[in-house]
Amino acid sequence: MKKHQGIGPFKSEKKRRRDWRLDDKSVGARFLEMRYNEYENSIMEEEKNDSDPSADGSDHPTSQEDQEAISTAGKVIKCRVFSEFLGLYLCAAVAWEAGKPLVIEEVEVAPPQADEVRLKILFTSLCHTDVCFWKAKEQTPLFPRIFGHEAGGIVESIGKGVTEIQAGDHVLAVPYGECKNCRHCKSEESNLCDLLRFNTDRGVMLNDGQTWFSKNGKPIYNFVGTSTLSEYTVVHAGCVAKCNTEAPLDTVCILGCSICTGLGAVINVAKPPQGSSVAIFGLGTVGLAAAEGARIAGAARIIGIDSSPSGFEEAKKFGLIEFLNPNDYDRPVHEVIAEMTNGGVDRSVECTGSIQAMMSAFECVHDGWGVAVLAAVPNKDDIFKAHPVNFLKGRIVKGCFFGQYKPWTHLPALVDLYMNKKLKLDKYISQSVPLMEVNKALDHVVQGNSLKCIIRFAE
Ligand SMILES: NC(=O)c1ccc[n+]([C@@H]2O[C@H](COP(=O)([O-])OP(=O)(O)OC[C@H]3O[C@@H](n4cnc5c(N)ncnc54)[C@H](O)[C@@H]3O)[C@@H](O)[C@H]2O)c1
Ligand SMILES: [Zn+2]
Ligand SMILES: [Zn+2]
Repeated sequence: MKKHQGIGPFKSEKKRRRDWRLDDKSVGARFLEMRYNEYENSIMEEEKNDSDPSADGSDHPTSQEDQEAISTAGKVIKCRVFSEFLGLYLCAAVAWEAGKPLVIEEVEVAPPQADEVRLKILFTSLCHTDVCFWKAKEQTPLFPRIFGHEAGGIVESIGKGVTEIQAGDHVLAVPYGECKNCRHCKSEESNLCDLLRFNTDRGVMLNDGQTWFSKNGKPIYNFVGTSTLSEYTVVHAGCVAKCNTEAPLDTVCILGCSICTGLGAVINVAKPPQGSSVAIFGLGTVGLAAAEGARIAGAARIIGIDSSPSGFEEAKKFGLIEFLNPNDYDRPVHEVIAEMTNGGVDRSVECTGSIQAMMSAFECVHDGWGVAVLAAVPNKDDIFKAHPVNFLKGRIVKGCFFGQYKPWTHLPALVDLYMNKKLKLDKYISQSVPLMEVNKALDHVVQGNSLKCIIRFAE
């Protein structure tokens, strides 16, 4: 069996799984504990298979698709997907200008450099952050650009120095990387890798500052190191999560950003005690995943706050029963929440991106122990204001990217939780469209009229 060495000082996969059980006592670990016994069994099963390399199909490309992917290794790829409907070859959805429809066309994708892998993307979805940077009204504009940052695919080829993944592996692409070497990667309290931190402004490769996409020699920038709206893309090896080959990539691909952001903001950061009250601001995918996290953590009361009540019915599927629309009141919503909860909620999670909602999320927590967690991305000029006396009164405000999950350390376990029917993902998926209809998918996010719309590169 292949040893796990790779881009940093990884412990072996098996040892790492055991270490979680021994060392990590967080609510997140308790949630994952449900899986530990099953892990023990699977580890024993794997150990049995170690002496028989043919028994572990996950380390070797199996399908015809996997084999085809490998034959392109080391070459510049012209992404071409034939659309029978249009009678054209399609490949990537390029944003040439801010706010203008994406254009589907052929682009060139360079081979991976050191520590990088080139992926054949099979499924991707869009998140609100793609839309913010595509509109580029409140964010730094960088065009032409290929968006997309939550996806599932197959490793097509690997660059020098990559040893832990190989062509044919099934992976999720994740914009929050893990180099495994830096202080953040070594800390259990942070996922803000020094090297592979979420970076919306870079748009070029870490290795040489160049773009890996081009069209007739014109460079095309990447988005957050992933750019998954392309049949092929290049990512740093620390920005993928290896996943169970049995897992349906058209579903688990959504673990690449929004779901983990909401789930982890509650389970890993807010850590609501059993029986507590939790307010969730914003009931998009991130907020609904946060509500799910609160339910899993054992919160007794979960209050959903959204200025667009059209999503309240859908939110009931996620266990929410109490809703507030701030527009229904002539006083600040945090005052309404404080009144409903005898002084404030135990935890709040902000998932709207509105600075006003961020401040309300802090104002609505209880004195003494209340914790507010900011999970959404603010506009670049926003300033958070709070009266310092609220800090003296013991309230805490925190924030996190990607729910403090690390792709290598945590995502395989989340995929397994889905496979074991302990984490529900299907209910977040409301639509699916082929790549050629990517602008429909973009429109759904802009209009806020759907949860996840999966974009398919293959039928
Ligand atoms: N921190 C991270 O790692 C991370 C990851 C993914 C997404 N995000 C951010 O999280 C946010 C939510 O993402 P999403 O995909 O769920 O978005 P979404 O647009 O689907 O949902 C946002 C919800 O907030 C509501 N809303 C907006 N302003 C509000 C206000 N002032 N008061 C109450 N409700 C309000 C909207 O009606 C909508 O239902 C976005 O800002 C996104 O950029 C952050
Ligand atoms: Zn790191
Ligand atoms: Zn995202």
